[in-house]
Amino acid sequence: MTFVPARPFVFAAYLVSLAIYRLYCSPIAQFPGPKLAALSRWYEFYHEVALRGQFTFHIAELHRKYGPIVRINPQELHASDSEFWDTLYGPGRVDKYDDCSNRLNIPRSIFSTADYNLHVLRKAPLLPLFSKKRIADFQPVIREKLDILCTKIDGYVASGRPWAINRALTAFSGDVITTYVFSESYQHLESPDFNETFHEPFMATSEVGHVALQFKWLYPLMNALPAWLVLKMQPQIFLVLQLGKDSIPTDFDAKLKAILSGTAKENPDHPTILYELVRGDLPPQEKQIDRLNEEAQLLVAAGLTPSSWAMSVAALHIVRSRHIYEQLRAGRGPVAAEQGHGPVVLPVRQGQQVMSGREPRDSRDPAVPGDFVPQTNASDVALAHDFFLPSARLDSKGVRVTVKEAEK
Ligand code: HEM
Repeated sequence: MTFVPARPFVFAAYLVSLAIYRLYCSPIAQFPGPKLAALSRWYEFYHEVALRGQFTFHIAELHRKYGPIVRINPQELHASDSEFWDTLYGPGRVDKYDDCSNRLNIPRSIFSTADYNLHVLRKAPLLPLFSKKRIADFQPVIREKLDILCTKIDGYVASGRPWAINRALTAFSGDVITTYVFSESYQHLESPDFNETFHEPFMATSEVGHVALQFKWLYPLMNALPAWLVLKMQPQIFLVLQLGKDSIPTDFDAKLKAILSGTAKENPDHPTILYELVRGDLPPQEKQIDRLNEEAQLLVAAGLTPSSWAMSVAALHIVRSRHIYEQLRAGRGPVAAEQGHGPVVLPVRQGQQVMSGREPRDSRDPAVPGDFVPQTNASDVALAHDFFLPSARLDSKGVRVTVKEAEK
């Protein structure tokens, strides 16, 4: 009986000593920042989860107030100082931050691997696959996907219907990277209006990641629950979990089983990441299906999301600026800028090919552009939410255009 009143007292004493430790005794106590952020991660939770991906903007404000190094939560400092780059990415052992390991529900992927040595072991077989030579060897696949995209654009020209460039580029990037990862694509470019892409599950992973970062039990709990219950309670988390399960339309597991059992067909014309990993020197525990599934999720997400975002931003500036458009058509200048939105580095040839709606190898005159009529503005690509993956305003309908046949 005497224990009951003692419990709240013990708990209160624990909270007080934790607060004293965090404010005055922690190894990072002397760094500037808001006291609330030093006291508790609920500060971060409020900006990341309650306000939906606003912490990055708030951190920028904190730097303006406190200087180049700011304490943003009880355990972390944030640096806004380009000289720190060499320290962070310089030679020597740097373990990643263990707390982030289960943020994306892929704890055994290289991205989430905190231990330096394990990270080196897992990353080593991937490095040669991203050499310039290997990517150059892969060009025919990229061109083949580009042809499909251009044919789809021709269809929009003929119908005069508007379409979303960012969805098209997500489908394009997805079909390219899945072919590199699995030797076959999901043919998202073929889907009507590019409706089927990995955009939704990856954005869900990204946003839920802010919650998972705060509550480490989230994914273990959700993974243990039946799928129908997760779907009912948390449709967003359901999308994330589906990536790791043997399920259509993602079915990464089914593809991996076929590769591991030797029943899948490898394309002899180019290297394929998962076949190389399975054949390579990784120890057996690193080649287990669940680990490879997580690596595949990472590679597809990492290959797809930043590339399609970067191309969509470039596309918006191209279609809204006749000047940039004409520079590109003339093959000049890789850098374009629109006032107030910073420089946009444009992959010139790619930009030309995608935006012309035509494959430059064909016999038609590439100097005669189709006429892009933007139905969109800069707010459709301006960073409005940082869910780890960047997001424009949530009610954006995408980077939309109609394309008219060019006058000859
Ligand atoms: C515009 C294009 C891209 C941008 C801006 C970009 C940016 C980044 C950044 C900032 C990181 C984190 C680096 C760090 O942890 O210090 C990263 C990691 C990674 N990216 Fe990219 N990326 C792009 C394209 C790609 C592509 C096409 C792939 C191909 C699959 C890829 C695969 C990866 C992988 C596997 C990692 C994890 C590396 C590791 O943890 O060691 N990325 N990327």
